[in-house]
Amino acid sequence: MANCVCRLLVVNCMLIMAFYNMMVLLLPSVVGTSMAPSSNSSFINEERKALLESGWWNDYRNISHHCEWYGILCNEAGSVIHIYMDIPPPKELRLIQNLKVTAFSNLYSLDLYGMGLTGNIPLEICTFTNLSALYLNHNHLQGSIPVQLGNLTRLKYLSFYNNSLTGFIPSTFRKLVNLTSILLSFNHLEGPIPIGLWNLTELLDVDFSNNLLTGEIPSSLGQLKNLLSLHLDSNKLEGILPMEVGNLTQLKTFSLSHNLLTGLIPSTLGQMENLTSFCLDFNHITGPIPRELGNLRLLKYLNLSHNSLFGSIPLEIANAISLVEVDLSHNNLTGSILSPILKCPYVEKVDLSYNFLNGSITSEITCVENLNLSHNFLNGIIPPIFGIYSVLHKLDLSYNNLTGKLYKDLAHLPYINLSYNSFDFSSDLDLKLKTPDYCYFAKDTLISYHMPNFTSCHFLYQTNPPQTRNSKAFMLIALPIVGFILLVFLSTVYFTRSTFNSKLKGMLTKNGDLFSIWNYDGKIAFDDIIKATEDFDIKYCIGTGGYGSVYRAQLPGSGNIVALKKLHQMESQNPSFDRSFRNEVKMLTEIRHKNIVRLHGYCLHNRYMFLIYQYMERGSLFYVLNNDVEAEELNWTKRVTIIKGMAQALSYMHHDCNPPIIHRDVTSSNVLLNSKLEAFVSDFGTARLLDPDSSNQTLVVGTYGYIAPELAYTLTVTEKCDVYSFGVVALETLMGRHPGELISSLSNSSTQHILLKDLLDSRLLLPVLPKEAQDIVHVVTLALACLCSKPKSRPSMQQVAQELCSSKPPSPLPFPEISINQLMT
Ligand SMILES: *[C@@H]1O[C@H](CO)[C@@H](O)[C@H](O)[C@H]1NC(C)=O
Ligand SMILES: *[C@@H]1O[C@H](CO)[C@@H](O)[C@H](O)[C@H]1NC(C)=O
Ligand SMILES: *[C@@H]1O[C@H](CO)[C@@H](O)[C@H](O)[C@H]1NC(C)=O
Ligand SMILES: *[C@@H]1O[C@H](CO)[C@@H](O)[C@H](O)[C@H]1NC(C)=O
Repeated sequence: MANCVCRLLVVNCMLIMAFYNMMVLLLPSVVGTSMAPSSNSSFINEERKALLESGWWNDYRNISHHCEWYGILCNEAGSVIHIYMDIPPPKELRLIQNLKVTAFSNLYSLDLYGMGLTGNIPLEICTFTNLSALYLNHNHLQGSIPVQLGNLTRLKYLSFYNNSLTGFIPSTFRKLVNLTSILLSFNHLEGPIPIGLWNLTELLDVDFSNNLLTGEIPSSLGQLKNLLSLHLDSNKLEGILPMEVGNLTQLKTFSLSHNLLTGLIPSTLGQMENLTSFCLDFNHITGPIPRELGNLRLLKYLNLSHNSLFGSIPLEIANAISLVEVDLSHNNLTGSILSPILKCPYVEKVDLSYNFLNGSITSEITCVENLNLSHNFLNGIIPPIFGIYSVLHKLDLSYNNLTGKLYKDLAHLPYINLSYNSFDFSSDLDLKLKTPDYCYFAKDTLISYHMPNFTSCHFLYQTNPPQTRNSKAFMLIALPIVGFILLVFLSTVYFTRSTFNSKLKGMLTKNGDLFSIWNYDGKIAFDDIIKATEDFDIKYCIGTGGYGSVYRAQLPGSGNIVALKKLHQMESQNPSFDRSFRNEVKMLTEIRHKNIVRLHGYCLHNRYMFLIYQYMERGSLFYVLNNDVEAEELNWTKRVTIIKGMAQALSYMHHDCNPPIIHRDVTSSNVLLNSKLEAFVSDFGTARLLDPDSSNQTLVVGTYGYIAPELAYTLTVTEKCDVYSFGVVALETLMGRHPGELISSLSNSSTQHILLKDLLDSRLLLPVLPKEAQDIVHVVTLALACLCSKPKSRPSMQQVAQELCSSKPPSPLPFPEISINQLMT
């Protein structure tokens, strides 16, 4: 994540450049008439000859008309004004000098981006006094930047980033008074930034990052009043950040990370009212965080980590309402207040770790997904705000002084680290261990508190079970292993936390019980399962999924209820099925999310293959929607919550898993509901890791009625296929039935006039609460965006999940008057 923001900015710059390129493209007629000398076939032949001799153009269709070749643009007189070649030539032709630039006397823009070119920047370029744009970025150019480039006084865009250039930035650049963009990042440039550059008031974008630049940032930087982006990160700049920085009122992105800057953050920063991203991490900045930062109403990213800031986090920071990611970690901040940042309405990621914060966690947590408060001095209890209703994914509270009891809602978090605190594991622990909830709490959460390498159990799942023909042979390997890990965990705790010694001794001696609570010790569990289902009697069957039937089994002894997905015999003998089975197991063991069905274990037997899942009391969403009584119980609020849960599960799979996991078969039958009617996405049988090395080509995917239209002509499955299917299920949830024809007719104007209220499930009364109505409008708007026939136009699941989490202003129209058309924006 470190460079996330900054990379994002480079992309922005490239977008801006692409835009400028287009502008240049629009200019030729003007240029052509004003600058081209009268048509002179000899120099036009010269230009063609130079292009041919470079060897870079070899797929031209019309040899005598080079103006029609790829990447060439001529003026009306037929002279080349714009070269924008980006196809790398064969290795032996990559020397930049291969193109005789002197042949092009009317050249206006030279764009040789990403061609793998080698050699030094040709001095001849310096003779094109008309040159307005010079893009040589993403090549392997070496040597220093010619000082003569300072003669190209019409130059507006100069882009040399991502090369191997050395030496100084020429001080002659002070003459480039028309320069708007200068991008020199990712080279080996050294020495100070020439002082004259800070006088080029036309500059909009400056990127000198990732070089070896030294010296100080002068106060004259304040003259660049038009500047939009300034990247000086990853250099060796020293001295202070001058207070004139506050004059850069147009600046949007400002990065100074990884330098040697000292002194204070100037309070004038508060005047940079357009700032959206500010990175100052890894410097030697000291003093307090100025409260003027609260004036930055557009600021989204703030990284001040790895400095020596002290004092408390100013309350005013809560006024920086656009904040999304804030990193103040590794400083010397004190004080008890965490809330100012957590109050920001869009904040998703907050890192305050490695400071000296004290006090208790009292603040209201709304949309924060990733919160790191570790290595501080927080005390008090964990308030019940981190439960299943928050969107929190990742919570690190390790190395604090928190007390009180843990409660089971915490187990819904995919990642939680509570190690090195003073929690109270009091007497009711044994009691809790007997409830199924606590079992998975113990398995997923307690272990991950202390086992940094929890993935070590995955290879155990992948271990090839001994395949024998013996009818007695069967495997149920997962759970002894969990037991083993528990043992390791318990012994780790035992040796590290003396306060728990007596308690843990008791647990260790009872480890046999721990296994049997789970019913996970091999043979017994298998026998139990056969007994509990009377050898898979149909009366225990609760549904039929893609790969087999699902049974409900109440295990004798503990009374725990699990769902067993028994796989069809035929399929279990099919080798490709076997692969899919292992796939499902592997993926599910890696996934932990509050809206994804847990896999407890699996069983291979010569007679049976089955998966043991967390039991979902209410069955599938499809089932509930198709039962009039149960559908009524599923009121609007519950339906919206189900859709949000699904969105979060899919967003987690697409964006938080590495590599991303595509579900491929999102349907209402694959969304299961627990006793509280909360949604859990299930059935990863067809999902495959989106491995960059393997193609995503596939033969059969998905379920008719939910499959994205592009799969009719391409066999490549992307995340956007899941987005489409999600859109179908979201509409289905609110309509109470599959949307069917509605989807294909969305582009018809007659369909667009349908009123939203007429689409909604008629078994429920129309929403009465404004919040319900607003939520429905919001969900349908997003669902329609997900159903775009162009995959690229669909939002990502992350965007959907974030959108659903944000609050939207109420619709100006009364609910009964809203039509589909108004939601298709
Ligand atoms: C802030 O900067 C540090 C150091 O460069 C980096 O490790 C961290 O990921 C950054 N924080 C965010 C939120 O991007
Ligand atoms: C080459 O381009 C010229 C000008 O556009 C055109 O008149 C001629 O027919 C083209 N020749 C071929 C072989 O396409
Ligand atoms: C942790 O809290 C306990 C009880 O409130 C207190 O006695 C102890 O000094 C605290 N430890 C630290 C390091 O703050
Ligand atoms: C939990 O936090 C501690 C201390 O910060 C760290 O050492 C440990 O690796 C973390 N555990 C996991 C599972 O991330």
